[in-house]
Amino acid sequence: MEDNPRFFDLVGNVRAMRRLKPDPVPRDLLMKVLNAGVQAPSGMNSQPWSFLVLEKSGDKQWFAEHYKAAIESRFGDLSMSGEDDSPVARQLRALQYQMTHMQEFPLLLIVCGLRDWPFKVPQDERVGLAPPNYGAIYPCVQNILLACRAVGLGAALTTMHQVFEEELMERFQIPREYGAVVTMPIGYPTGRFGPVRRHPAESLTYFDCWGNTAS
Ligand SMILES: Cc1cc2nc3c(=O)[nH]c(=O)nc-3n(C[C@H](O)[C@H](O)[C@H](O)COP(=O)(O)O)c2cc1C
Repeated sequence: MEDNPRFFDLVGNVRAMRRLKPDPVPRDLLMKVLNAGVQAPSGMNSQPWSFLVLEKSGDKQWFAEHYKAAIESRFGDLSMSGEDDSPVARQLRALQYQMTHMQEFPLLLIVCGLRDWPFKVPQDERVGLAPPNYGAIYPCVQNILLACRAVGLGAALTTMHQVFEEELMERFQIPREYGAVVTMPIGYPTGRFGPVRRHPAESLTYFDCWGNTAS
């Protein structure tokens, strides 16, 4: 069978896009992207995902304020000198932009996952709330990232809402059976898409026994 070269271009070109225009995202385009998300695999095809989309300015403002407070409580001041051109400095500047413009982005997508105990937790140790089914939610999230890229939308995966998850659940009436796994600001990017920087699989792959690289 022939390779689909466009897939390999796309998958290597899905950077976290943290600078987004405020221009609205058409509803049918959003649904196209989310329908790519739900093509993901899940255990027993349980499809344990649900989506909450925040578009109203009061809701986005609420989220943005809590997000900023969460980042500052964990990392302090993110400001970086504009002269430092290292990848870390560039990422910090992008994170700071995202944090201070969150309320202006057209939509914040919260991907929620049904709670489900992992097999390895024995029955008698299942106390309190199970974690959301991360193993199924992340393939769905990756499909959404790829689909956004394919239709020219920028998106970034964020998880800092975990710091204020209780308030988030309460404000948006998310039922207890679900956990909020990822928040993705989505919109048209201000800048250009570009290639990701990753270690090649050859440097991370062992054959037959840990430590044996391909010779
Ligand atoms: C589990 C997980 C959590 C992440 N959390 C955040 C986050 O809270 N905020 C953010 O801006 N990016 C977050 N990211 C995105 C990564 O920072 C990003 O993918 C990585 O730095 C590589 O950058 P690139 O995708 O632009 O190449 C997260 C990614 C993963 C997989």
